[in-house]
Amino acid sequence: MIERMRRGAAGWALAVPAALALCMTAATAQTVVNGEALRNADAPANVGDWMSYSRTWDEQRFSPLDQINDGNVGQLGLAWYDDLETMRGVQASPIVVDGVLYNISIYNIVTAYDGKTGEKLWTYDPDVGAEWARLACCGPSARGLAAWNGKIYIGALDGRLIAVDAKTGEEVWTTRTFETEGLLNTYSITGAPRVYDGKVVIGNGGADYGVRGFVAAYDAETGERLWKFYTVPGNPADGPDGEASDSAMQIALPTWHGEWWKYGGGGTAWDSFSYDPELNLVYIGTGNGSPHMWYFRSEGKGDNLFLCSIIAVDADSGEYKWHYQMVPEEEWDYTCTQPMVLADLEIDGRERQVIMQAPKNGFFYVLDRATGELISAKSYVSENTWASHIDMETGRPVLMPGAHNTTTPHLMNPSWLAAHTWHPMSWSPLTGLMYFSAQEQPAIYARAEDGGFNFVHHRSNSGQAFGTMPELRAKLQEEANAKEKGYLLAWNPVTQSEAWRVNYRVPGSGGVLATAGNLLVQGTIDKTLAIYRATDGAKLWEMNIDQAPVAGPITYMIDGEQYIAINAGWGGSPVYNLGPFQTATAKLLVFKLGATGVTLPPMPPPADLPRPPMLRASEAQISEGRALYAEVGCNRCHGDNATGGVKDLRFMTAESHAAFNDIVLKGTLADRGMASFADVLTPAQAEAIHAYLIARGNEDYADAAAQGS
Ligand code: HEC
Repeated sequence: MIERMRRGAAGWALAVPAALALCMTAATAQTVVNGEALRNADAPANVGDWMSYSRTWDEQRFSPLDQINDGNVGQLGLAWYDDLETMRGVQASPIVVDGVLYNISIYNIVTAYDGKTGEKLWTYDPDVGAEWARLACCGPSARGLAAWNGKIYIGALDGRLIAVDAKTGEEVWTTRTFETEGLLNTYSITGAPRVYDGKVVIGNGGADYGVRGFVAAYDAETGERLWKFYTVPGNPADGPDGEASDSAMQIALPTWHGEWWKYGGGGTAWDSFSYDPELNLVYIGTGNGSPHMWYFRSEGKGDNLFLCSIIAVDADSGEYKWHYQMVPEEEWDYTCTQPMVLADLEIDGRERQVIMQAPKNGFFYVLDRATGELISAKSYVSENTWASHIDMETGRPVLMPGAHNTTTPHLMNPSWLAAHTWHPMSWSPLTGLMYFSAQEQPAIYARAEDGGFNFVHHRSNSGQAFGTMPELRAKLQEEANAKEKGYLLAWNPVTQSEAWRVNYRVPGSGGVLATAGNLLVQGTIDKTLAIYRATDGAKLWEMNIDQAPVAGPITYMIDGEQYIAINAGWGGSPVYNLGPFQTATAKLLVFKLGATGVTLPPMPPPADLPRPPMLRASEAQISEGRALYAEVGCNRCHGDNATGGVKDLRFMTAESHAAFNDIVLKGTLADRGMASFADVLTPAQAEAIHAYLIARGNEDYADAAAQGS
């Protein structure tokens, strides 16, 4: 990869056609995914494959393929598709090895397709229980798979790490990465496993419910655990864990106060990793604190290492090497689990080995990946209420006055809804730009009063108050709505400045792919797949797909023909704004030049927006419902302020209103991903949430109906 970076733009003109010619035979050459193949991912034998989550270990998500390019992309058409038959979010990037495309849908169902024709070769269903739709914060999505030496690796939602035979889909080995019984075991896996020179690295999520984050590496051949690295300290009274993280926990422990271990502490690595084979370092991006409120987690004291940090560990032993904490004193549900991209850049006349990240907090960070030294950081959002800048002497953020949460509700931008989240970003070594889906969605925060935080098993445990001071909240919400923005950002990490942007109507567009064809591919919130010119953002091609993909697109080549593939299945994490209107079922879509004749099934004519019932509840009941809606975590799937989400609850049919308590308390829609909440809600509390939703429907009906589909 480093060689590729040095070659620069001029080298491509020569390198690519040669690659294409050889690719014609690549399908019969039998790629074995191993260290050699991944070190030479741009070589003719491998350039048509997509062997890892972001294609390469450096997570650049850039393809040297340029058959589809800014000159001919207008001829792009749908080559084949598969209906995934779900309305849930499908977040996965497929992988492609030797002409076979491997995809993972909801509940970790894996299918192998002939990448040319879409013919299904095998399907593997790990039988993840439907209850996991609720135990994972944001639904039963998976972001991807890994491949190594004839095997495909699945990180199942319920904590199993499974290796299956790439040819047959038969299970080779299975291991448990976490226990599911017990108070602090509310983990789940949604991130893609990575394989680094024979070691499968996997993390997990669950910090919103109360867990202690960790990452583990397993032998790719046997499933034997090689090392485990905790990201936050446990109860000091229990002594060292006897794991690879023991020395790191000595650094972390003095930065914690109170009895955080009772709530897990958090810091889960639920999405991103990257790997530098020369430095032999694995980079771990960690998440938010548990509970969210610093006041309850750590008595409002200390940095709380290693929440919201990048940690570098030795790939063989898991031993700590360095860390950089983006968000000390984390209490905004900011995560630093976002993609971490490695590249070699010339900065201030020096060649630097960098790691780059755009986490939830709205800053773009460039670090030295050998040492963790901060090279630069800059806010890319129009308003940042968290920090004015990062102090280059100390590497610490300079917080804005009032950034920390108190019992008085205030607005934060960026918020837990993220200036950028897991949505894959791409780095083009040709344009020198980083591309990612950026958004501005302010949200209201207030911590609970003293004594007002009660940790409840299997419930979202944030330590926030959601119902206090309703008039102030209404005003702040109005302000938040007015400030919403969503855009595709092209960012120059050397100058830390914007190169160009494409503005969208609202936040919520998906991951991106950059190619040597000077293309930038993105699924949009306007239910299209769009392709822009990577150098300047000019729109070159767009197609209606009746779905707003959140996933990252990929590209591959078989028998000399280049394809672009994307899962179009909106939802599955806090991504809102599609509104109450209908989308198609999720589909895997595959495009190539000159394809004609394959069309998506027509959408049924739009139904009228159901009118909400008359509001009969008292203000007190609505207020209780508003608080419970967020406390219990309905907002994680149904949208903050009950807007958007997997199903817009402001505009339910009469049947759904009638069945409301059965749906919420008896789990009558469990097979569609709506599990019962009977263990955390009484019937009266469900009624209060219902009242709040009816109130929200009445507030918004006129505007939403006018908006149309
Ligand atoms: C982990 C994600 C998730 C969470 C959390 C969640 N839901 Fe759901 N909910 C769903 C899904 C998925 C559906 C089914 C959508 C469909 O029909 O396609 C659904 C459907 C519903 C429906 C039926 C809507 C209709 O129009 O038919 C109701 C009512 C509902 N949820 C209420 C709630 C309430 C109240 C909460 C909080 C206590 C909640 N949900 C939390 C995922 C979730």
